[in-house]
Amino acid sequence: MIPTSLPGQPHIHYANGQLHVEACPLDALASAHGTPLFVYSKASMLDALAAYQRGFAGRNAQICYAMKANSTLGVLQLFAQAGCGFDIVSGGELARVLAAGGDPAKVIFSGVGKTRQEMREALQAGIGCFNVESEAELDVLNTVALSLQMRAPVSIRVNPNVDPKTHPYISTGLKGNKFGIAHERTLATYQRAASLPGLHVVGIDCHIGSQITEETPYLDAMDRMLDLVAAIEAAGIPIHHIDFGGGLGINYQGDTPPPADALWAKLLAKLDARGFGQRKLMIEPGRSLVGNAGICITEVLFMKPGEQKSFCIVDAAMNDLPRPALYQAFHQIVPLDLHKQAQPGAPVYDVVGPVCESGDWLGHDRPLAVQAGDRLAVLSAGAYCMSMSSNYNSRPRAAEILVDGEQAHLIRARDSMADQLRGERLL
Ligand code: LLP
Repeated sequence: MIPTSLPGQPHIHYANGQLHVEACPLDALASAHGTPLFVYSKASMLDALAAYQRGFAGRNAQICYAMKANSTLGVLQLFAQAGCGFDIVSGGELARVLAAGGDPAKVIFSGVGKTRQEMREALQAGIGCFNVESEAELDVLNTVALSLQMRAPVSIRVNPNVDPKTHPYISTGLKGNKFGIAHERTLATYQRAASLPGLHVVGIDCHIGSQITEETPYLDAMDRMLDLVAAIEAAGIPIHHIDFGGGLGINYQGDTPPPADALWAKLLAKLDARGFGQRKLMIEPGRSLVGNAGICITEVLFMKPGEQKSFCIVDAAMNDLPRPALYQAFHQIVPLDLHKQAQPGAPVYDVVGPVCESGDWLGHDRPLAVQAGDRLAVLSAGAYCMSMSSNYNSRPRAAEILVDGEQAHLIRARDSMADQLRGERLL
């Protein structure tokens, strides 16, 4: 049978009626490792990275994978070996980068609430840059650096006040958000940073939101950033790199974000036109590198038809896949066996997990033709699923597999009960 690709996911396809990630049939992986099970395509991650690399060909650019999207060591190792740096937001993420063999000099540290301890660890590891988000943070970082007789490399994260036109929880570049320094305070903040002996100004940074599917917010943010760079440099403070953050969306439900290389062709044309084409560039993509590379396999436990609503109860839940519960996010759900695909007119079900909350759903009103024991794949589950998973309801966190052609590498074992109880003490 001719392989059938799923939209936007060329390495996840049906062959001989069975869903595969690259050359691995998923039913066999589920039988071997149990469910719920995350499976990622290495080729898909490297293809997504290649789109950025093509976009930046011939430029002085550093891609820092925003590892909050998926921080499993095997995934970090893949991106480190492909030359990526990392955007981190905690000491825990720094420790993961180091454990995966990442280069600390290519690490940038974002986030509004860095602790002194995290600042010390990052300075001692020799990270490339702190993206500072408030004037208070500048002062504390200065003190911490001086106490180590070091100078901290800093960028100021600017809040450009543009609307990324995405879900309010993942929109970060508007005035009312907690992130960054207000546009009109930027120059004064740079002057303050440049006057502090424990700091060394190296760049400027912004990040306007996530799952952005239009190019206009990026173009607008770039204009506003470049205006600021010109003003800061006119005040005698050189800006060595410009960091445009992450945020490029993926296709969940027919979304049509611009491809990374096409977006950057436009952004680079603007940079060139404004005379900044030679400047070192940084970006912090997360979702667009890993989101469509992953799926989560889940098994149907029970079908529960009802008068008002029918439910398909599966063994994955909001603790594994929190995005629907948190953001009403849509993830496509397909059967592993192509012959079980719903035909037009099939009954619809809410696909729900075993967690004791009505918010524990994975999909609403999905036409299905499956029964108990059948397996489903939740698509576009490579980003912000495992990294946001929890042990809620004392459920073990799922296992993860990275597929490379015919090879399936277990990159995270399913939690054992001992893993869950570690660290706890009876009275
Ligand atoms: N840089 C900074 C400073 C960020 O805060 C983020 C994401 C990124 C880069 C990467 O953005 P991306 O390229 O992945 O869009 N949990 C939500 C998304 C939260 C994004 C938080 N910040 C979700 O599942 O949709």
